[in-house]
Amino acid sequence: MTHILVAVAWPYANGPRHIGHIAGFAVPSDIFARYQRMKGNQVLMVSGTDEHGTPILVQAQKEGLSPQALSLKYHEVITEDLKDLGMSYDIFTRTSTLTHEKAVQELFSSSLENGYITLGEQKVAISPLSGRTLPDRYIEGTCPFCGAKDARGDQCDECGKELDPTDLINPRSKIDGSVPIFTSKEHYFLDLPALKPYLEKWLEGCKGWRGPVMAFAKALLKDAKPRAITRDIDWGVPLPPGPFAADPNKRFYVWFDALVGYLSSSLEWAKREGKEEEWEKWWKVDAESYYFMGKDNITFHTEIWPAILMASSGVKPEDKPSSFGKLNLPTQVVASGFMTMKGAKFSSSRGVVVYLRDLLKTCQPDAIRYFIAACGPEKEDSDFSFEEMERKINGELVASWGNLVNRVCTLIYRNFGKIPSPDHLDEGGEALLSSTLKGFEEVGSLIEKNSLHEALSKIMRLAGEANRYLSDAEPWKAEEPQKSRILFAAAQAVSDLNVMLSPFLPFSSPKVFSFLGLPSSPSLPKVRKVEEEGEEWSEICGPYEAEKWERHPVAPSYPVPEPHALFRKFEAKNEA
Ligand code: MF3
Ligand code: ZN
Repeated sequence: MTHILVAVAWPYANGPRHIGHIAGFAVPSDIFARYQRMKGNQVLMVSGTDEHGTPILVQAQKEGLSPQALSLKYHEVITEDLKDLGMSYDIFTRTSTLTHEKAVQELFSSSLENGYITLGEQKVAISPLSGRTLPDRYIEGTCPFCGAKDARGDQCDECGKELDPTDLINPRSKIDGSVPIFTSKEHYFLDLPALKPYLEKWLEGCKGWRGPVMAFAKALLKDAKPRAITRDIDWGVPLPPGPFAADPNKRFYVWFDALVGYLSSSLEWAKREGKEEEWEKWWKVDAESYYFMGKDNITFHTEIWPAILMASSGVKPEDKPSSFGKLNLPTQVVASGFMTMKGAKFSSSRGVVVYLRDLLKTCQPDAIRYFIAACGPEKEDSDFSFEEMERKINGELVASWGNLVNRVCTLIYRNFGKIPSPDHLDEGGEALLSSTLKGFEEVGSLIEKNSLHEALSKIMRLAGEANRYLSDAEPWKAEEPQKSRILFAAAQAVSDLNVMLSPFLPFSSPKVFSFLGLPSSPSLPKVRKVEEEGEEWSEICGPYEAEKWERHPVAPSYPVPEPHALFRKFEAKNEA
C-alpha cells in the first residue's frame, strides 16, 4: 500500500469549464485516482480554483465585478461542473484561504532564508495612456520563438515557451492596444540557475514520464534564468514582512501562489479531517505524487514547483527546511496535449468553446468521460467534434458495453430471476473468463501508465469477445443445463469488465453491480459548505469507497433485480 498524492491543476476562477479543460486535467486524473484506490493505495486527490493574477482581473473588469466577487462566482460554477462530472477530489478548495496564504509565505520565507530567492531589478511594462503597470498577461505580441502573433507576456500558448513581456516582438497592451513603455522595478527572483544542478539530477532520476514531457522539461532547464516571483499588482497573496510589506501593490506572482495550492489544500484537508498532521503521509518519505495538467502548464510543474520545493526544503547541508519539513518532489508530471476544435485551440475569449454545463444537458457524465478517455489529447493534441463523439458513444459505449450488460442481465432476470448455478462451464465460457481475468493485469498496467486510450480499447475488445460468445452460444435458444452455463459465464464476464470500467464510469458501474446482485460502494463526490472570514463557499469532498481491482465472483442463486437501460444515445445533430 502506497500513499499517492493526485495533484490536479487548479482551474482559474474566471469562467465555466469547457471540454478542453476537462480533457486536459480532469478526466485523466480522476481515472488514475479511482484506479489507485481500487488497487488498495491511499489516495489524496487535491485541487481548487486559482483565484489570483491577471486572468481574474481581466474577467472581473469585463463583468464589472470586483475580483473577489468574480472569483467566488466562478469558484461555485466550477465546483458544480467538476462535481457533476464525478471528479473524486478529497478536497477542491480555493487559493483565497488563510491556510493557503500562510503556506505561500512560509515557503517563500524559507527559500529566502536559504538564499534561493534574491532581490533584483525587473523590467516592467507601463501603459503610456494610464501610467499604470501592465501585468504580463495584459501584454500581447509576437512570440520570438515560434512567431505566433498572439503570444502573451508570460507565455506563448502556441509553443509553450515561457516569456517575459520584454521578449515579445511588437508588444501591445491588451486593454487599449498602446505600446507599453518598460521601466525597471525591484522584485524578488527565484534563483533557478542556483538550483539547476539539483533540478537536473532530480529529472535524471525520474522514471515513466511521457517522452515529450521529459524532453521539454530538460530543454527548459538548459536556459534557466532567475525568475521574478512578485508583481506590481494589487490582487494576489501579500508578501510577508520585509521591504515590500507596506506596498499594497506588490503581490506574489500568481504561479508562485497557485503551485503552493497542492500543499495548502492538503493541509486544509487534514484540518477538516481533524487530524492536523495527516497531510504529511502524502508529502514525505515513501509517498508518490502525480501531477495532472494540460501541456501549457509543463514549465510550472517540471521547473518552478520543484524549484520552490527544493528552495524551501533545502538542498545543501547548511540549508534549513521550512516549518513543513522536507517535502517530496513530483514522482511524475502527467501532461496532456490540447483538445482543439476544427484545428483551433479551445478558447472562451475567441468563442471556440463547448461548455461542460451545456454538454451535460444532453450527454450523460459517463458518456463524456468515456469519450475523453477514448479520444482525448493523451499524448498528442486531438480534435473534438460532435460527430466523433456520437460515433464513440453510440458505437462503443452504448452498442457494445451497454448492449452486453442489457442482454446478459435481462436474460438472467427473465429466465431465472437469480444468478444461475451451472454444473460447470463450457469451453467457450472458460476461454472468455480466462481472457477477462487476464484483463485485470493488462488494463491495470495501462492505467498506471496513464495510457487510457489503450486501456479502453483493451476493455472494449474483451466486451466484443463476450458479445461474440453470446451470439455463438445463443443462450436464448439453449436448453438446460447449457443455458445456465452460458449465462453464468456471461454474468461473470460482465462483472469483470464492470470492475475494469469503474474508474471510467463511476455513475453507471454501481448499477451494473446491482443488476448482478453484487454489492457496490458509492463513490461520487459530495459538496459541503465552508466559511471563512464571513464568506461562504462550496468545497468538493469525499470520502470515497472503492471496489477492489480484482474479480468479484458472481454468486450462484443470488436474486437479481430487473435491469434497465444504462446509457442514452448521443445525437450530434442536437448540438449547436
Ligand atoms: N490556473 C492555471 C491554468 O489554468 C493552472 C494552475 S495549476 C497550479 O493554467 F498548480 F499552479 F495551481
Ligand atoms: Zn511561441
